[in-house]
Amino acid sequence: MDLVAAVRQQAGGCARLGSPMYAGLCDRIADDLEAGGPSAALLADHRDAPGPDAVALRLLGSVHRLVLERRAGALAAYYPSVGGTWEPDAGWTAFRDLLADQPGAVAEWLDRPPQTNEVGRATALMAGLRTLGGPVRLFEIGSSAGLLLLADHYRYVAEDGSAWGPAASPVVLRPAWTGPAPRGEPRIVERVGSDVMPVDPRSTEGRLTLTAYVWPDQLHRHERLRGALDLAARVPYEVRRQGASELVDSIEPADGATTVLWHSVMWQYLPGEEQAAVTARIGELGAAATPSAPFAHLELEPQRPRPGAPHEFLVVLQTWPGGERRVLGTAAGHGVPTRCD
Ligand SMILES: C[S@@+](CC[C@H](N)C(=O)[O-])C[C@H]1O[C@@H](n2cnc3c(N)ncnc32)[C@H](O)[C@@H]1O
Repeated sequence: MDLVAAVRQQAGGCARLGSPMYAGLCDRIADDLEAGGPSAALLADHRDAPGPDAVALRLLGSVHRLVLERRAGALAAYYPSVGGTWEPDAGWTAFRDLLADQPGAVAEWLDRPPQTNEVGRATALMAGLRTLGGPVRLFEIGSSAGLLLLADHYRYVAEDGSAWGPAASPVVLRPAWTGPAPRGEPRIVERVGSDVMPVDPRSTEGRLTLTAYVWPDQLHRHERLRGALDLAARVPYEVRRQGASELVDSIEPADGATTVLWHSVMWQYLPGEEQAAVTARIGELGAAATPSAPFAHLELEPQRPRPGAPHEFLVVLQTWPGGERRVLGTAAGHGVPTRCD
């Protein structure tokens, strides 16, 4: 797919996921690319980038970072994340002027992949953990900053008004669940993540990175990210700099708790051999599980519910001993809500 088509496709994705600002900006960037404007010069080296490189999100994230750092001049007045108000025409003019006036600054972040750690996906994780109940050793691959490892510190308010999690939590997910949500009482006794490019949520650079990739007109996502960053500064957990298969190889089931391997929206980034290695190791962990040392694989990944059907974000839980596989529900792309079946 050429870059203009990829940017237009991104516009559709932003519209579907509730960001009219980014949907409109992507369309304007695509027009500007076709017209040979400042976007064309900036993205000249990215013309043949494959779709997963998400060039539009790289550009938007880089500009948002300049806004957050107060390096984007007049453009900040149009960014809701810093108190501005988006206006499609005037906002686009200021955006294009920034690309034309500060191409070097904008280019600084074009070579890095977008890094999003979506706190809302905790609704899917917690639907799974509440299905299991009891003590849980939580292992996550593709953790980014590890904010989902803090899922038991968030407050979940279901569509029926019932709530779970600390009432004073700075993160409130609402509606966390629609439909018949599970009611178990999980207790996370260990939390370990891994990522090939972990983000440190306790550093200024890490916080800037995570904030820059949250879409500026989605203030509810900024609010829950702020809350999660606040918790990350206080709750101990570990994210190792290692690939998914390396972490999974190091896990063993242990007596007295369910060992859970969890991941969300990361499987597509694993090379085929690594996917095969992780899948094989999951089989080994399942075979090694016993009633006193159970193992579970919990995932939120885009999958086809039936052959030929469109992709959906399915919440899937497989448990051992036995290997029973259950689709617990379907989540929105950013997690909230998870519809429980
Ligand atoms: C789209 S982000 C999702 C982050 C997090 N799971 C979430 O849902 O918010 C995908 C993450 O996978 C990581 N990743 C990519 N390849 C990986 C690999 N081979 N092993 C571990 N993590 C990987 C990326 O660095 C990135 O942090």
